[in-house]
Amino acid sequence: MNLKGLILSGGTGTRLRPITHTSAKQLVPVANKPVLFYAIEALKNAGITDIGIIVGDTAAEIESAAGDGSRWGVRITYIPQEAPLGLAHAVLTAEEYLGEDSFVMYLGDNLLRDGIEGLVESFVKNEPDALILLQEVPNPEAYGVAECRGDTVVRLVEKPAEPKSNLALVGIYMFTPLIHQCAKEIKPSARGELEITDAIQRLIDEGKQVDAHVVHGWWKDTGKLEDMLEANRLILDALEGEIRGEVADSEIHGRVIVEEGARVSSCTIRGPVIIGKDAVVHDSYIGPYTSIDCEVEIRNSEIEHSIILAQSKVIDLRRRMEGSLIGRNVRILRLDHKPEAYRFMLGDNSWIGIV
Ligand code: DAU
Repeated sequence: MNLKGLILSGGTGTRLRPITHTSAKQLVPVANKPVLFYAIEALKNAGITDIGIIVGDTAAEIESAAGDGSRWGVRITYIPQEAPLGLAHAVLTAEEYLGEDSFVMYLGDNLLRDGIEGLVESFVKNEPDALILLQEVPNPEAYGVAECRGDTVVRLVEKPAEPKSNLALVGIYMFTPLIHQCAKEIKPSARGELEITDAIQRLIDEGKQVDAHVVHGWWKDTGKLEDMLEANRLILDALEGEIRGEVADSEIHGRVIVEEGARVSSCTIRGPVIIGKDAVVHDSYIGPYTSIDCEVEIRNSEIEHSIILAQSKVIDLRRRMEGSLIGRNVRILRLDHKPEAYRFMLGDNSWIGIV
């Protein structure tokens, strides 16, 4: 069976604004690596080397980040979607690229710890018409929800107000070309999208074989701040420490990565932490679960459980920063002239919490 990959990286990242005003949500880094890259790697590790990426308004940025895929040994084809009209619409947009091949569809903002090798093997071996992944979640109303009888899925509903189970649809699916016909037959949902959930329901209604696999390792949809920080925590937890940059007069505890060209001086760093290329961290405390991206500058400050994107500066903060996501090129500085007052320049949909 020839299998292709289809990663969905169109859409709008409304729940991660303002970061997503200027950047695609699939490119927000987790442990200093864009979420999208984890999807490409998962497909590659499962032996899939032909990968289509659905792109929307942020196409240029995604193309320049992932390129032609040669860095991973895969071939990437970019497929523009006219508007984010739903996951099933994205499949239809890719119909020509997919042709008669079966495919793994991977939502570009999803992260799955255990990879998909075993699942792809089972899909190829058992040849169902579709294979879906499920996981128990505390808030099923935020996802597609599956109702099962024994091992069989009987009903799938997208974001139901009153979920019939706590089994959410993970954003990774395996399909045969049968899905194209189903995607053509469904109507837009209440939120105006062609839902892949409804297309799979159609397969079920037609008596096709839809296998379901419950995922026990962690899975994250990184669409919201809390989930992004949690994903960052989970990925950092699995990294080994390595000092490739310069560390002087500092205490390093636990697993800490200091990338090439980074300079850490007079600091206490308590891992798991990653400090990116050419970052400067001086006279500061960096606490667990913090990712500091390349060329960031931190002086005389304390930061914990946060993600700081490239080229930002945090200088002389009086209180500890935690649970924060700071975009690119942001400046948080102490002003030493009167009046002693807060001064902000915040983009649309920003928020700050003060003490
Ligand atoms: O994360 C799992 C959930 O993903 C599932 O439980 C739901 O059943 C499924 O509908 C989906 O829900 P979301 O509301 O989280 O999907 P979202 O709009 O965030 O889109 C998921 C990814 O697909 C994201 O990377 C953007 C991309 N996308 C989305 C749409 C609607 C496209 O490329 N094109 C689109 O038209």
